[in-house]
Amino acid sequence: MRITILTGAGISAESGLGTFRDAGGLWERYPIEEVATPEGFAADPGKVHAFYDMRRRDAARAEPNVAHRALAELAAARDVVVVTQNVDDLHERAGVQALHMHGSLFEAACTACGATAEWRGDMGLEARCPSCGAAALRPAVVWFGEVPRHLDAIADRLAVTDLFVAIGTSGQVWPAAGFAQEAAAHGAETLEISLEPSGGTFDEVIVGKASEAVPDWVRALL
Ligand code: APR
Repeated sequence: MRITILTGAGISAESGLGTFRDAGGLWERYPIEEVATPEGFAADPGKVHAFYDMRRRDAARAEPNVAHRALAELAAARDVVVVTQNVDDLHERAGVQALHMHGSLFEAACTACGATAEWRGDMGLEARCPSCGAAALRPAVVWFGEVPRHLDAIADRLAVTDLFVAIGTSGQVWPAAGFAQEAAAHGAETLEISLEPSGGTFDEVIVGKASEAVPDWVRALL
């Protein structure tokens, strides 16, 4: 059975990382257009770096939770692909190499030469590209208006998926919001596990905290 799992901010919420659209979420506190668009970065790169430096520090301090670890256990026993909208590295630190369709906090991209590099500390305006030396780095995350990554690989996987599971995502951002229907159109069963139903169309919805519902679901599957 081929399982494809899409995760969102909700799976990292209990690791202490804020979600975007819950009450008090990131997009209530930071205007998207100022910190998560190419135009915002062009207008005030220092503000955008400060936003992502803060999130990178928070993510580095966070630990994978039992939901991340349960998915790692499942991925070790079944044909599982994890696609994540998250830019933290908690799946990887739990033992799963996820497809990061929105990029990663821990990668820098050079706007001068195009090189990318792993980046763990603060970036800021003075950080230099390891390849060309220019002080022209940006966070290698996908901003609104930019093309998400791995879309071909994801489409190929959805076409052969038997079970599609969305975990901890509000289903508000495309193309990820359409993955469940794409998988269903190819015959997959679809399941949502989240604190609040997204309102999307799924064969089954399990409402609960990821730290409880995901390990329970994995145990039942194994
Ligand atoms: N356990 C499970 N689900 C949870 C928990 C929890 N402890 N806490 C919150 N959730 C659920 C919420 O009910 C909501 O459905 O996680 C979801 C979080 O939704 P969003 O904040 O919209 O996050 P996400 O769906 O990942 O956003 C998608 O939008 O802004 C962009 O690039 C950003 O990747 C992000 C994308």
